[in-house]
Amino acid sequence: MEQGKYLIKVFGCQMSFHDAEMLSGLLDEAGYQEVSDPSDADVIIFQTCCVREGAERRIYGQIDELRALKRSRPNLIIGMSGCLAEKDKEAALERCPHLDFVLGTQRLGDLPEILMALAEERQGIVSVGEGTNLSPLPISRSKGVRAYVNIAYGCNNFCSYCIVPYVRGRERSRMPGDVLAEVRAAVAEGFPEVMLLGQNVNTYGRDLDERVDFVALLQAVDKVEGLQRIRYMTSHPRDFTEKMIWAVKETDKVCEHFHLPIQAGSDRVLEWMNRGYTTQHYLSLVDKVRSIVPNASITTDIIVGFPGEEEPDFQSTLDLVQTVQFDAAYTFVYSPREGTAAAIMPGQVTTEEKKERLSRLNALQAGISRRRNEALLGETVEVLVEGESKNNAQVLTGRTRTNKLVHFVGPKGLTGRLVKVNVVRAHTWTLDGVLI
Ligand code: 5AD
Ligand code: SF4
Repeated sequence: MEQGKYLIKVFGCQMSFHDAEMLSGLLDEAGYQEVSDPSDADVIIFQTCCVREGAERRIYGQIDELRALKRSRPNLIIGMSGCLAEKDKEAALERCPHLDFVLGTQRLGDLPEILMALAEERQGIVSVGEGTNLSPLPISRSKGVRAYVNIAYGCNNFCSYCIVPYVRGRERSRMPGDVLAEVRAAVAEGFPEVMLLGQNVNTYGRDLDERVDFVALLQAVDKVEGLQRIRYMTSHPRDFTEKMIWAVKETDKVCEHFHLPIQAGSDRVLEWMNRGYTTQHYLSLVDKVRSIVPNASITTDIIVGFPGEEEPDFQSTLDLVQTVQFDAAYTFVYSPREGTAAAIMPGQVTTEEKKERLSRLNALQAGISRRRNEALLGETVEVLVEGESKNNAQVLTGRTRTNKLVHFVGPKGLTGRLVKVNVVRAHTWTLDGVLI
């Protein structure tokens, strides 16, 4: 039977991106065909994020923009999946009456049934709440060198600012055998790199009967033949241990990049955030990383303007950033999320103040990032080639093991291969190199 054409618009993190690959997998299996222009599509799905208000506003804005298209083509199906869908449930349909369905984070597998039901009655369908997403779904992986593999769903941490535990449920680890099988399948498909995904990879396995932890999983994945590189996302500094650092050092494929979200550099703010560590603990982890894996890169996430954060707290964050010398920092202004503990905490910081702190932090970090990159001038680095640069087809791009983006001239046929590149120029966010 001739099926329709679909388009998925993805917002948010790697986890969300990977969920979209599973929605694609389900649609491809059902005979649908992916298109890139909304006016060609019979089904448009917004795979959404709700971690900050800005994402939410942007998504609803884009859904609203489809109103006219829907009016002119009433048979067009528009759906919302992902974190914002799980958060807003029926309210999403009230807010956007031209939405046909709302699909929660644990319900991806319901998509084919929903589309069939819509074909018959064409009414708003809401499928959210606990589901059975631990059973494997088909995956249509996006082109590229990196395959995403879920190792755990959900989160048990309840950082006071964060909506994720509410929209992704409690932590559920996948069986190591299932993870390994998926990694092997990705390698067989031609992916040289995998990124293992979990909200807190360092607590992987705690909920399983089998005695396995994240280090054991990394060691097992490291042995997969044909695989070149392993990355993972995200570590929680409270659960990240020295054993992890040794595992990175002693495995071949696990890359020397540590993403350790600090969130704030003031101990009282960290306590209000319910992070479960102090800046001193964090600094000791950084020292251990630098002494055990000296050439590693370290990156972080930082939120400014958490409720109660005053100028001296923010100054402590700047001091910590100066002390650690991160390779890069993903910085955000605090965004109150209804239902989280921090949203009703006293001392909410004004938007103006938050923006001002963010720009001071970004200015400091930009200088540090640049100097960290300059330290690589003249070095030879291993680059996994990702393909032509977005802005210049004459130039190839790829990443170092430390996750730095490198541009260099070379034949397109190197895509997917490991090459050696000499670093000749350093910018704030990227490096230029010469192929050896
Ligand atoms: N406001 C701003 N930033 C947030 N993050 C999570 N929740 C919020 C929020 N309410 C940031 C954290 C996290 C990253 C993915 O997003 O820094 O590590
Ligand atoms: Fe990812 Fe969190 Fe956004 Fe969900 S809310 S897409 S888990 S960043």
